Amino acid sequence: MDRERLIFPEGFTFGCAAASYQIEGSGSMRGRSIWDDFCKVPGAIADGSDGSVACDHLNRFEEDIELLAELGVDSYRLSFSWPRLLPEDEQHPDPEGIAFYTKLLEALNAKGIKPMVTLYHWDLPSRLQEAGGWPQRATTDAYETYARFCFDTFDHLVNTWITLNEPYCSAFLGYYYGDQAPGIRDLRQAHRAVCHLNLAHAKALEVYRTGGYTKRIGTALNLFTPRPKDLSKENLEAAERAADHGARLYLDPILGLGYPEEYLSKFPSDHFPILEEDLELLSRHEPDFVGINYYSESVVKADPTSPFGFDFCGTDLPKTHMGWDIIPEGLSRQLRYVHERTGDIPLVITENGSAWEDSIEDGKVEDTRRIDYLKRHLEVCREVVEEGIPLTGYYAWSNMDNFEWAYGYSRRFGLIYVDYQTQKRIPKESYHSYKRIIARNKER
Ligand code: BGC
Repeated sequence: MDRERLIFPEGFTFGCAAASYQIEGSGSMRGRSIWDDFCKVPGAIADGSDGSVACDHLNRFEEDIELLAELGVDSYRLSFSWPRLLPEDEQHPDPEGIAFYTKLLEALNAKGIKPMVTLYHWDLPSRLQEAGGWPQRATTDAYETYARFCFDTFDHLVNTWITLNEPYCSAFLGYYYGDQAPGIRDLRQAHRAVCHLNLAHAKALEVYRTGGYTKRIGTALNLFTPRPKDLSKENLEAAERAADHGARLYLDPILGLGYPEEYLSKFPSDHFPILEEDLELLSRHEPDFVGINYYSESVVKADPTSPFGFDFCGTDLPKTHMGWDIIPEGLSRQLRYVHERTGDIPLVITENGSAWEDSIEDGKVEDTRRIDYLKRHLEVCREVVEEGIPLTGYYAWSNMDNFEWAYGYSRRFGLIYVDYQTQKRIPKESYHSYKRIIARNKER
């Protein structure tokens, strides 16, 4: 089969995704975020870099949008930088921040590219972290005010809203493992962050649904779904624990199913500041879709020494430059698992992609492994659509190389190569391949 003939039902959305801190640059023209602070910690970022310049997207967004238009995507997922819009507090928006996002959204709409906007993709204003960050309930109030401000200011220019990107990472990588901002290592804080991130999502939905706005609103989750190393009883149980920790903790509350009690019962109750009214709010509104960010599948085994009762297993599968296993079939397992819980709620792949050690030869980047990864995952998407799972879109991560968090600029996920010395954009072969796939889907 010619895999470039990946044909999806009419209306399936093809997109690309990126996030504010990873691409925008112009760091001195906005408020400080936890990522500005984290990047200053010696050793926190592999190459000692930060997002102060990144892809200089703030000054080059027109060229970047032109490249998206040439690619032919239906939609572009971007995120707002909270500290660019509200640098000092939630009451005083920065007119320059508003002007930038207005121009960006207008330019996308002018090209017929539907903006999907993530309200929060990890760049919490430092002022809120200084007051305790996500482990504090007050952060959910600030987020609610920020969300209302964004809806009031930009809803007419936005097609789809995403409340949060990957609450698992915000909570556990940020507050437990400490390898992402704000770099804290405290399980209680991580668990409290989970509860407040879920609550923040519910508050944004409440504001949206009661405020007379009419676009779609959902979330973007990265999940560990049950995948035991083998079928031994202890590893099967460990896989369920992993799914409690890495999936049900986020998915169940926002679907109004409450928190996984068994997970909660293993930790002191002050880890989980959940009020009755929070659960009521969480169950009041369903998201219009659930976004899934999928890169790999976590294979686990029992580990009694871990507070979570499981550990990740190494495998001998081929890996990307991130060291992540390539498991396209894991995506179908994950979509089925989520679909069992979400039923009719549409699902969207809000991120999927791979990092490779790209190099330019004769002006070209022959990234055949990225093309293979992309096609294999798109093939799985098409299979699950045929199976009847309501998967309605796919966003490749990322349209261009960018600041890969703790890896700095040492990992490239883009369909477009960015030369960080000159800021030149060079479409890779994967860009042309994705472009052909999209074009064939439009030839009807
Ligand atoms: C994040 C992106 C990140 C990507 C690759 C996701 O966890 O949402 O911001 O660049 O994975 O690591």
